[in-house]
Amino acid sequence: MLNFSLKDKVTIITGASRGIGEAIATVFAENGAKCILVSRKQDSISKIAEKIKENGYFADAIACHIGYPEQIKELYSKIKHKYKRLDILVNNAATNPHFGGILDADQGVWDKIMDVNVKGPFFMTKYGVKLMLESGKGSVLNISSVNAEKPGLMQGVYSISKASLVSMTKVFAKELAPFNIRVNALLPGLTDTKFSKAIINNKEICDFVIKQIPMGRYAKPFEMVGAALYFVSDAASYTTGSCLCCDGGFLL
Ligand SMILES: NC(=O)c1ccc[n+]([C@@H]2O[C@H](COP(=O)([O-])OP(=O)(O)OC[C@H]3O[C@@H](n4cnc5c(N)ncnc54)[C@H](OP(=O)(O)O)[C@@H]3O)[C@@H](O)[C@H]2O)c1
Repeated sequence: MLNFSLKDKVTIITGASRGIGEAIATVFAENGAKCILVSRKQDSISKIAEKIKENGYFADAIACHIGYPEQIKELYSKIKHKYKRLDILVNNAATNPHFGGILDADQGVWDKIMDVNVKGPFFMTKYGVKLMLESGKGSVLNISSVNAEKPGLMQGVYSISKASLVSMTKVFAKELAPFNIRVNALLPGLTDTKFSKAIINNKEICDFVIKQIPMGRYAKPFEMVGAALYFVSDAASYTTGSCLCCDGGFLL
């Protein structure tokens, strides 16, 4: 029997207050994980954690701005104190405050995107892996984007950040493989969340993008979860440094 169970696995999901992160947290909890939901806003993650608990599964919620390494250290000290271990980390939170040409991206835009989308996952992984090393096993999943492979129109700096995350996935995967810690990446295509409203709510841009998707539609957040579950579970025990697109054929 393939083992997709996440029973009792202590699991952090960043950006779990809505969208793809909420979907991952919900299904991982249903599969037995002890999910710790992270985002900047305590209220938002507590609400999702309550929903998961009402359905009879485990969830906790700890606020952290992943752009600040000091907050990440505090997050891990709380987790170490309460749970003593970390089995799975999903680096899902990201931001894109700039929808426009690359030459119009100023330093503030660059810093914000790089802080949250690159520095955040880097320090979440660096400090999280310390806990995984103590138990001799672990799994990290980075949520990148198809933009890592094919830059999105008007999303230049964001595309650069997501390509960095693919590189980061491979660097950590190679260095951590001898320690039984696997690191993989999922590259979603256009998915119906708050994040993608700038595209989905603009009929002209949305039609232009949909024309490039062989399946002829965008995804729902839950359509990203099967691949995420595979990567972090023991079913993927020989898979590391791998990047999988879930994009309705967009990159074909
Ligand atoms: N939607 C798409 O079409 C699409 C396509 C490709 C890739 N992706 C990727 O999928 C992932 C999830 O995106 P989504 O579409 O689900 O976005 P979303 O619905 O906007 O959710 C983003 C999440 O990140 C959290 N967040 C934002 N900044 C944060 C910070 N500094 N520290 C901690 N948490 C932060 C937000 O919560 P708070 O506001 O409470 O902090 C929220 O929970 C991202 O990595 C995105 O790049 C999305």
